[in-house]
Amino acid sequence: MTSAQEASTFVPSNNQNKLKEMKATVYTQYGSPDVLQLKEVAMPVPKDNEILLQIKATAVNSGDVRLRKADPFAVRFIFGLTKPRLNILGSVFSGEVERVGIQVKQIKVGDQVFGHTDMRFGAYAEYIAVPEDGSLALKPAGISHTEAAVIPFGGVTAWHFIKKAAIKPGQKVLVVGASGAVGSAAVQLAKSLGAHVTGVCSTSNIDLVKSIGADEVIDYTKEDFTRNGQTYDVIFDSVNTISVSRSLKSLSKKGVMILSAAGMSEMLQGFWISATSGRKVLTGVISHAAADIRLLKDLVEAGKYMPVLERTYPLAQMAVAHAYVEKGHKKGNIAIEV
Ligand SMILES: NC(=O)c1ccc[n+]([C@@H]2O[C@H](COP(=O)([O-])OP(=O)(O)OC[C@H]3O[C@@H](n4cnc5c(N)ncnc54)[C@H](OP(=O)(O)O)[C@@H]3O)[C@@H](O)[C@H]2O)c1
Repeated sequence: MTSAQEASTFVPSNNQNKLKEMKATVYTQYGSPDVLQLKEVAMPVPKDNEILLQIKATAVNSGDVRLRKADPFAVRFIFGLTKPRLNILGSVFSGEVERVGIQVKQIKVGDQVFGHTDMRFGAYAEYIAVPEDGSLALKPAGISHTEAAVIPFGGVTAWHFIKKAAIKPGQKVLVVGASGAVGSAAVQLAKSLGAHVTGVCSTSNIDLVKSIGADEVIDYTKEDFTRNGQTYDVIFDSVNTISVSRSLKSLSKKGVMILSAAGMSEMLQGFWISATSGRKVLTGVISHAAADIRLLKDLVEAGKYMPVLERTYPLAQMAVAHAYVEKGHKKGNIAIEV
């Protein structure tokens, strides 16, 4: 078992080696939201290079839903063939440092930090141990833990692709799924780089997408952007609801297409398009770095990025929150107050 797996593996509270207990949402089988159960488990013990964080808030993201359901099936090859090896989901957190390992240099007890667990998960809990040099930073000033917790998932995903696309001021950027966690982050990050941003969303999300800075909004229930005669330097499709060949019609000759929600077939198409035309298609799984969390903190404090939070549930209602997120219509993000 790797240390990453240990971090989120369910240790029953009657384990004789336990120091203290905490509440956590545990799942021991793949399936519907009901597999998520609130339990008492052993509190993690930070290693020498780790901090122990008392989590104040986490979030339910589309990625958590995919892992809970093992969808796509390939999830099982990484996270456990017949049942999950990691028993506590949750990839984002905001909270207060309760203890630090002896090698921890920069972070001290009482610091308020937010971040991403990378592939360790384990944030659906009262406490988590994370390495000091993990994807975390001091919480942005002026926002709550609940707001901070919903920043890293969409923010890091959108930034991973946007920095690869090297967006320049004045470029025309189209964001499909502009009301989702990744899309709302993409709108704001592209704007922060000086792009002219058009967001594609449904009627009820027009005001939201305008409020986060989109210069133009296309209501996909009334207008098909592939038929409006416009071309864009960058198309960021965060939801994968339109075929690559159709949206390609709206990409400029040397444009970049970001397919952050691509499945295997879109990845193969993307590879082919990049290899055979002047256009570039970006797909794949994102990477994580503390620098990305620090950038998001700086943007929030500079007033260039705001957390988009639709609603909040308590930890005990995790299954209800998952059922809502699974519908695929959330506006920005769903937080969990721990
Ligand atoms: N590559 C990676 O490493 C990576 C990382 C993170 C996430 N992802 C993937 O990215 C995808 C999106 O994640 P997310 O968390 O942003 O999802 P989300 O928050 O659930 O966003 C879905 C949003 O898209 C809107 N939408 C639905 N159909 C649409 C359409 N046809 N056109 C425009 N907007 C539409 C929905 O609102 P309405 O229904 O009201 O329109 C909703 O606001 C997921 O599949 C996730 O697995 C990939």
